[in-house]
Amino acid sequence: MDGQIVVVIGGSRGIGREVARQAQARGARVLVAARGAAALDELKQTLPGVATAQADAVDAAALAALFAPFERIDHIYQAAGVFVGGAAAEGDEAVYRQALEPRIWSIMHVVRAVRGKLRGSLTLTGGVSTDRPAPGAWITNIGTAAAEQSARALALDLAPVRVNAIAPGWTDTPMWDAILGASKAEAFADVAAKLPIGRIATASEAADAVLFLMNNAAITGEVVHIDGGHRLV
Ligand SMILES: NC(=O)c1ccc[n+]([C@@H]2O[C@H](COP(=O)([O-])OP(=O)(O)OC[C@H]3O[C@@H](n4cnc5c(N)ncnc54)[C@H](OP(=O)(O)O)[C@@H]3O)[C@@H](O)[C@H]2O)c1
Repeated sequence: MDGQIVVVIGGSRGIGREVARQAQARGARVLVAARGAAALDELKQTLPGVATAQADAVDAAALAALFAPFERIDHIYQAAGVFVGGAAAEGDEAVYRQALEPRIWSIMHVVRAVRGKLRGSLTLTGGVSTDRPAPGAWITNIGTAAAEQSARALALDLAPVRVNAIAPGWTDTPMWDAILGASKAEAFADVAAKLPIGRIATASEAADAVLFLMNNAAITGEVVHIDGGHRLV
């Protein structure tokens, strides 16, 4: 990936951060965008040479500004997304709508912002909840499915640019620290015991699939599952 330009949207923590690290290690010039300044600053300390920018993936103007300086972008990974729990029969409609923003409209904003500039690939983020819906999280289940279907649809519309998605299962990232807090270890142990691989995947393993999709020029419209066999049990 020597000299290639890789942009990670949602890369200050978790899977996106690992994609940034692995792409840089392979020689890419990497730009990471996220909303929070603190995690971006911390990223700069640990990955010197990675450029950072504060941008919200659901803000079309922010994404246009992010990509404006580039004449060419080789690969984009869109990691931005949130887990939103709650049943359809109750809960706040506005919050549920927000959950779809990064997984549907943000993708449109990205595609518009890089028109004529993106050369290689766009990788989106779905999740195991597409095939194994998480009980009580209906809108997240819809969101991951939407991102995966976007990869298939955009593989046709953006060709020859390749568009794929990863579908992570339970992956050990700061997302779960925020959601589960002190019960994380117990919840992870419960899930791990049911998985064929007997453990929770790492952010590095999910990121490895993103790098694979960026680098294999024959793959488009594909969804790669990194779920430890979760769909089978
Ligand atoms: N971890 C899992 O088990 C798992 C499973 C299935 C799918 N996924 C999906 O995989 C993706 C990455 O997950 P993760 O576990 O790595 O999450 P994470 O640890 O919470 O990291 C998410 C990253 O995205 C950024 N982000 C979130 N919303 C954003 C927005 N609107 N605009 C720009 N940046 C944004 C966050 O920074 P800021 O908050 O500062 O913006 C952070 O850098 C997410 O879409 C998640 O839903 C994760």
